[in-house]
Amino acid sequence: MEKKGKLWGGRFTGETDPIMEQFNASIGYDKRMWKADIQGSQAYVKALHKVDIVTEEEMNLILDGLKKVGQEWEAGTFTIEKGDEDIHTANERRLKELIGQPAGKLHTGRSRNDQVATDMRIWLREELTTLRHHLINLVHVIVERARRDIDVLMPGYTHLQRAQVIRWSHWLLSYAWALQRDVQRLQELTSRVNVLPLGCGALAGNPFNVDRDFLAKELNFTGVAGNSLDGTSGRDFVAEFLFWASMTNMHLSKMAEDLIIYSTKEFHFVQLADAYSTGSSLMPQKKNPDSLELILGKSGRVFGHCAGFMMSMKGLPSTYNKDLQEDKEAMFDVYDTLMGVLQVTTGVLSTLTINKEAMRGALSPDMLATDLAYYLVRKGIPFRDAHGLSGGCVALAETKMCAVADLTVEDLKTVSPAFEPDVSSVWDYENSVEQYTSAGGTSRSSVLQQIKQLETWMTALD
Ligand code: ARG
Repeated sequence: MEKKGKLWGGRFTGETDPIMEQFNASIGYDKRMWKADIQGSQAYVKALHKVDIVTEEEMNLILDGLKKVGQEWEAGTFTIEKGDEDIHTANERRLKELIGQPAGKLHTGRSRNDQVATDMRIWLREELTTLRHHLINLVHVIVERARRDIDVLMPGYTHLQRAQVIRWSHWLLSYAWALQRDVQRLQELTSRVNVLPLGCGALAGNPFNVDRDFLAKELNFTGVAGNSLDGTSGRDFVAEFLFWASMTNMHLSKMAEDLIIYSTKEFHFVQLADAYSTGSSLMPQKKNPDSLELILGKSGRVFGHCAGFMMSMKGLPSTYNKDLQEDKEAMFDVYDTLMGVLQVTTGVLSTLTINKEAMRGALSPDMLATDLAYYLVRKGIPFRDAHGLSGGCVALAETKMCAVADLTVEDLKTVSPAFEPDVSSVWDYENSVEQYTSAGGTSRSSVLQQIKQLETWMTALD
């Protein structure tokens, strides 16, 4: 006798503790995969028909029933019943209500173990496309802004100390390159998600000789899992997604931190649009960069899911264990979080105003000390010596209590006879950035080259 219609009720005589029932259930979140679950079943019943486990009539009944179940989900009329442990149980229960006995044949040789792994891969594959689209859109926004504001100069920082003069566009593009790699990584991981576990059964494989290549074709997978034990329990694809999302969020989080700093009154390089800021309930003057702070904060949550899920997996015996059910909440939450982060970042960047004057005002002649050394290098002095001589000029300016740029040629000559009147060209910020013409540098031509490379890459994407 089946216990209250539970899929696995046959051998059980006692009731499930209601707390356990709740603890065990995943329907609350895995219902998001209803469509993937139905698609998987549609393909599977066709494969069963090919090996004569279901007749054509039964197959059509099941296909029809599954379609109806799907329509109910679509219309929001599907009712989750008590005892619907997960999406697989719920869909099968409803199918049986709709078409009766033939529904019982659908699960022949299949297990929720190969089913859930299949559903997740179908779901993730689809959503990775959405994330990819948002990510590429963000790169577009960055590249466009970089082109528009190419003339703007700002201090570049190391150790958060003013270091050398750079173009604002160069700073912006540094994140576009990181995000480009994220898009590439996403493409690579998608190919590993796109391998089908269906037909692996509970663990040992499929005893009815279902054609797995046919299943893969039906479900648009590029191949089938090569080992049924691995196919049912392998969750690398989830871990890889969580890591990928962590890395992507880390890039966005770093950019957000830069912008938080640049948006302070002390820097005043950028100003966030009202649409992405909030005020204080107490201090009327405040305009807070909450959008950026949340991007940083959310990265903790995303990294946490990645680390947490790895921890859940690390000591698991082969093959399916219920611990694996933890994969879904991590996957869904990370997906939702990153979707928000990507869209907010895009919004912030496309509405941000920049304050060119403040950026330029933050440049100071001491940032050109390296350039002074390069000047000497161009006069034939070895860099190590030139570095020391330039430092000597900075020290001289300090004793004279003036800016290094205000030292006369005569003053400079006391440090090195190589200094000549043309040294005045060093004290020009524009000249400074224009030296960096090698690929990847901050000169106008190098930045335009970067823009071109990124644009070419984006155009070539499908
Ligand atoms: N809800 C389960 C999960 O998400 C489905 C697989 C259940 N398999 C099992 N052997 N109990 O992992």
